[in-house]
Amino acid sequence: MRVGFVQFAPELGRSQPNLERAEALAPRADLLVLPELAASGYNFESTAQARSLSEPADGPTLAACRRIARKTGAAAVVAGFAERDGDRLYNSALLADAGGLLGVYRKTHVFESEKDHFLPGDTGFRVWDVAGVRVGVMVCFDWFFPEAARTLALRGAEIIAHPSNLVLPWCPDSMPVRSLENAVFAVTCNRWGEERGLKFIGRSQVTAPDGQILVRAPDGADAAETVEIDPARARVKTIAKRNDRFGDRRPEHYAR
Ligand code: ACM
Repeated sequence: MRVGFVQFAPELGRSQPNLERAEALAPRADLLVLPELAASGYNFESTAQARSLSEPADGPTLAACRRIARKTGAAAVVAGFAERDGDRLYNSALLADAGGLLGVYRKTHVFESEKDHFLPGDTGFRVWDVAGVRVGVMVCFDWFFPEAARTLALRGAEIIAHPSNLVLPWCPDSMPVRSLENAVFAVTCNRWGEERGLKFIGRSQVTAPDGQILVRAPDGADAAETVEIDPARARVKTIAKRNDRFGDRRPEHYAR
């Protein structure tokens, strides 16, 4: 299975050119991940601006993902978007194939000024079947909470698709541990560039169940990278002869 990311620098408020840029860059792959809020941009001046750049789940981002799936042969494309559901706004990610929408995840852990515009997600962590492989989704700052990746892995995710707009410096060096502790692949697709004083760190990457970084993008340039993986590696949760990541858990000792 070939998985990859499309790192680019969306411009705030320029949804159509942003989606066109992602489409132009998208390489052939079975699973492709785009950044968080890929069409709208991130650092909204106001909730009114966030609302004006929001879209329903079957909006322009879905249409672009369907076109990307058609162009690249991808069984699924994952992209972040500002979701409008009635009066409510969520920082969401959708999963689509050429035929349409496969599902939506609403970001659980909203970061900083996102709290002014978006409600905390209410979908919980979800896993979809993509060409026989289990794909879970989390969005950007969810990485900081190990429970997010762990919950996805416990729910059967073999690959975590992770659309991001990272500003804190630690994610690229932390995701190898999320992959290792859960024995999952992770595709973190970050953006780069600056928006109203906020700098995004690039360095999109794919990490493997042994904690290896299979490919990493630079910090300040467009990068569409793919790598071949064997998802079966994520089905083996053994740590040592007598230890298993899930079998050895002691949840009765984990409550506060
Ligand atoms: C973030 O969650 N976009 C920092």
